[in-house]
Amino acid sequence: MRHWFFCFFLASLYTFVPLQAQQKKSSMNTFIDALMKKMTLEEKLGQLNLPVSGDITTGQAASSDIAGKIRAGKVGGLFNIKSLSKIKEVQRIAVEESRLKIPMLFGMDVIHGYESVFPIPLGLSASWDIKLIEETARVAAAEASADGINWTFSPMVDISRDARWGRISEGSGEDPYLGSRIAEAMVRGYQGDDLTRPNTILACVKHYALYGAAEAGRDYNTTDMSHHRMYNDYFPPYKAAVDAGCGTVMASFNEVDGVPATANKWLMTDVLRKQWGFTGFVVTDYTGINEMVNHGIGDLKTVSARALNAGIDMDMVGEGLLTTLQASLKEGVVTQKRIDEACRKILEAKYMLGLFDDPYKYCDESRSKKEVFSTENRKVARRAAGESFVLMKNNNALLPLKKAGTVALVGPLADNRVNMPGTWSVAANHAKSISLLDGLKQINGITVLHARGSNLDHDAAFDERASMFGKSSGRDKRSAAHMIEEALDMARQADIIVAAVGESAEMSGEASSRTNLDIPAAQKELLMALKKTGKPIVLVLFTGRPLTISWENDNLDAILNVWFPGSEAGLAITDALFGDVNPSGKITATWPQHVGQVPLYYAHKNTGRPLPEGKWFQKFVSNYLDVSNDAEFPFGYGLSYTKFEYSDLRLSATKLKGQQKLTASVTVKNTGKYTGKEVVQLYIRDVVGSVTRPVKELKGFQKIELKAGESKEITFTITPEDLKFYNYDLKYDWEAGDFDIMIGTNSEEVKRASVSWEK
Ligand code: BGC
Repeated sequence: MRHWFFCFFLASLYTFVPLQAQQKKSSMNTFIDALMKKMTLEEKLGQLNLPVSGDITTGQAASSDIAGKIRAGKVGGLFNIKSLSKIKEVQRIAVEESRLKIPMLFGMDVIHGYESVFPIPLGLSASWDIKLIEETARVAAAEASADGINWTFSPMVDISRDARWGRISEGSGEDPYLGSRIAEAMVRGYQGDDLTRPNTILACVKHYALYGAAEAGRDYNTTDMSHHRMYNDYFPPYKAAVDAGCGTVMASFNEVDGVPATANKWLMTDVLRKQWGFTGFVVTDYTGINEMVNHGIGDLKTVSARALNAGIDMDMVGEGLLTTLQASLKEGVVTQKRIDEACRKILEAKYMLGLFDDPYKYCDESRSKKEVFSTENRKVARRAAGESFVLMKNNNALLPLKKAGTVALVGPLADNRVNMPGTWSVAANHAKSISLLDGLKQINGITVLHARGSNLDHDAAFDERASMFGKSSGRDKRSAAHMIEEALDMARQADIIVAAVGESAEMSGEASSRTNLDIPAAQKELLMALKKTGKPIVLVLFTGRPLTISWENDNLDAILNVWFPGSEAGLAITDALFGDVNPSGKITATWPQHVGQVPLYYAHKNTGRPLPEGKWFQKFVSNYLDVSNDAEFPFGYGLSYTKFEYSDLRLSATKLKGQQKLTASVTVKNTGKYTGKEVVQLYIRDVVGSVTRPVKELKGFQKIELKAGESKEITFTITPEDLKFYNYDLKYDWEAGDFDIMIGTNSEEVKRASVSWEK
């Protein structure tokens, strides 16, 4: 009886939930139908308009030109205003002084935290800690929403296999499987399970699509690739974000199949809406419509109509839709139906956020004071930074350092707070970040000697280009020789040298492509001089991308890659240097030996002439004369202060059929002296396919913690779902045959076994 009642209860719950969702949807439709009946064409086009805050950030909101447009119903939202009082004022103008009182969206690039800044996304991805990544997005949403923001232009999920491209720093690296898991987590973190809450915000997955595949790694450049590669390697993270319910999508600047993404109907409508079932709205990137004039596909009126017809709903900054669509409608180039559709999508987003019920719901000053940059949130930032660090080298267990003796801290990034948050930290209070020098000063028992050692780069003009947005590198006017001499003087008095060198924050990020991936020469010369002292050197490496550091790897004792760790940088780095945190990050984009190898990625195809294993050159096979095919550091690589030993791989079967499941296990033992975390990685190779298949693909991972001496059996369950790929006809399916199963500590060092799987 009880059982029966329970089943009935469950069944009614299941029908109740969709029923409730349906009811909500129908009330939304009724509300929006009524509102749209009242809207003029101009007001509808106004909803599609997203100007940048512009004069509002500096001027008086009420008297600005944008304020006039808001009163006239010509603005759907604004972005990048950091001021709760200004946002409140702008919202007041919209809901009190415009005819239809439609509330506005307030967007911002909250990319890796708001004021409590987390590591740059590439660094965060190196944590392989999905729960933590979701938590960072949750905290970012809570802080941003407490300051009036209800929409973030994140997650950025562009797969990139080219370290020259500066925006590789903003994504999760080269792998579609890991990238997809991170994309979902971030959407969940921002949007939660209820968008009407005051502390959840709309997410915007970007940049759809293929933006990370710009030719020659040059930002905004052409992309061109087969549909096969798009579907298998580049689309999955966008799709994962859409499947996770991401409310909005941002179009990319680049072209896809010869048509800019912003005007590409196949991309925006056929794939996004019809194949993936996306129901939110699509916004262009910054002046994305206007730039199509330069792309060479027509004047502003033509490209605006093309964008709308392709499936774009909102126009960021350029006002092409606002200013040209009335004429295009008259000429029959666009339809009223399509304008209504776009307008409806934007109103729906506002409705789902609850803005029609309370347009000021994100404007609670007491929340802002309490939650933004709170002690608790900064603790999450410090923890996240610690999880993102990658120990690239640690000769003779030089790290962790003892809290005793004299440390010579050198390098242009040692005493620099403003660079610590990294690129895209628009809401950060940069000066409040903690530098490595600040952090070291808090360690009792050590003496710290500090010298700058070098400038970021010899070339002052380069330095300036790499120091945008108030993130000065603090250029020193003294000569390079003088600065090196001073650093050597300190180094000679010290027991150990800690060199804080690498890129400045703005050497990666938007429009920060590089053709040379070395540490800039001025800093490398400093390292070379320090090496001659014979003192042990720890390289604390700041970077927004994979660098070429073969010399450093060959010559220095320890390398801790800290990316740009965020607002708590100095504390998190000292946690790791002195062993309060044991580094466990693993790189998510391959580090090449030489820039000429780029694009270099682990999931490459075999080619018809692969280099035999163990060789580094052979005539008439696929390799180079001057550099081996190997990475300097392969995907998934990262060390720990402790050691992990992997047993051989055990499979539950070697022959399978149909929907059977396979389990693959290894025993991982911590054979070192410290408690540590390890990311156990599962790769699969589909040995023979109807199309060529990568030499291996990541299909699972588990981040585990083991005490010294502890071992644990790690098991992965593999089903035919994990074997699926898009075939020549872009059908997503698996093919019977042989599969190599690999589990290991990185993409190169793996244990292997094979299975054959029949249909
Ligand atoms: C970037 C986007 C960003 C937008 C708004 C553009 O330049 O490509 O990623 O969201 O600006 O700031």
